[in-house]
Amino acid sequence: MYFARRLSIWPTLPLNVYFRHVSKWLPFPLSDDGCRVFSKARHAIWNACRTMGLGGNDVVLVPAYHHGCEIEALLQAGVKIRYYEVTDLLEPDASSLETMLTPDVKVLYLIHYLGFPQDAIRWRKWCDERGLLLFEDAAQAFLAEFDDKPVGSFGHAGVFCLYKTYGIPDGGAVITFMPPKLPESEHPSGRWGVFKRHVNWVAERWALIGSIHLYVKPLLKKWKRKKNHNPHKEFELGDPNTLPSDMTMRLITKMVDHSTAERRRENYKFLLDHHRHLVPRPFATLPKGACPFAFPVEVDDADEVLKKLRRYGVEGLLFWRNAHPSLPVKEFPKSMAFRNRVFAVPVHQELTASELMQITEALHRATTKKLNPITT
Ligand SMILES: Cc1ncc(COP(=O)(O)O)c(C=O)c1O
Repeated sequence: MYFARRLSIWPTLPLNVYFRHVSKWLPFPLSDDGCRVFSKARHAIWNACRTMGLGGNDVVLVPAYHHGCEIEALLQAGVKIRYYEVTDLLEPDASSLETMLTPDVKVLYLIHYLGFPQDAIRWRKWCDERGLLLFEDAAQAFLAEFDDKPVGSFGHAGVFCLYKTYGIPDGGAVITFMPPKLPESEHPSGRWGVFKRHVNWVAERWALIGSIHLYVKPLLKKWKRKKNHNPHKEFELGDPNTLPSDMTMRLITKMVDHSTAERRRENYKFLLDHHRHLVPRPFATLPKGACPFAFPVEVDDADEVLKKLRRYGVEGLLFWRNAHPSLPVKEFPKSMAFRNRVFAVPVHQELTASELMQITEALHRATTKKLNPITT
């Protein structure tokens, strides 16, 4: 076992967060009176569909490159889905979308991948000209901007994951022209989630804890998988009326900061300067308003490289390997190539300069032949 700090793509929760002041500044959509926060973004999607009156025979055009839980939320909200393939730049292709239009198509679902903004102005115009609604999925793009305006503010609905940007236990925000009614149930406490994110912060700072974490977590995962193996569990909707935890609501106002997006961009640029040749084309240049969720790496043997990275303390994520079971995967080869070949490493705002160095060196060593321990 190597001895290393554990660096994961998920933002961690600093121990001093309780002593911070509540921020006077709130970012979009939290700054908007129409914003509603549920436990997860999938709950926000389900609720947005309901309040926008979608259901029955309404068809939503959704990208074949997706997480899967957003598709499940749409299906459970009662809409039908029709898949579109993405281009090499992960954008929708206007001419192929055109061929999919029938009178029952009501919505274009647009995902802002990894915090990189799509051209939301263009797609809003495209929707308006065809009498469609634009649904912006900014689950990975909280704090990102396009044309100096927040991503998620261009569509008729926008959803965001707060916990993907800050180390809080949960939080899925939604903004629509018809804000959903919040349930009157209790907020879960979220203390266990907070504890885990604090442990992640400690594992990111101290190699002893990091190594124990790196060693024990896969064993626990393996054991859990043996007990109850369900490859589609990550897509489950759960109760769409679950409120965010009490800890999320208390801590988010202490964590939001003007500098977050800039720090993520700086970290991304640093890795880009060292590893541009590994980055898939849609993410090879950093646009002005991006708030990167993670740093994507494209390789032939993703599983092998990820295994090597772990030895250097970097827990990469092969995100979206499994598509939603409703996707006829063979008909969407471009999306499948992304699923099999692209994984991500951290760029979050809590990373220190030496941790970024650790990621850079780990990437270098894991993608070349030699395997030596890194001294941190
Ligand atoms: C593109 C996209 N949309 C929606 C979601 C749903 O987020 P949550 O897990 O908060 O329900 C995710 C989750 O990873 C996602 O990647």
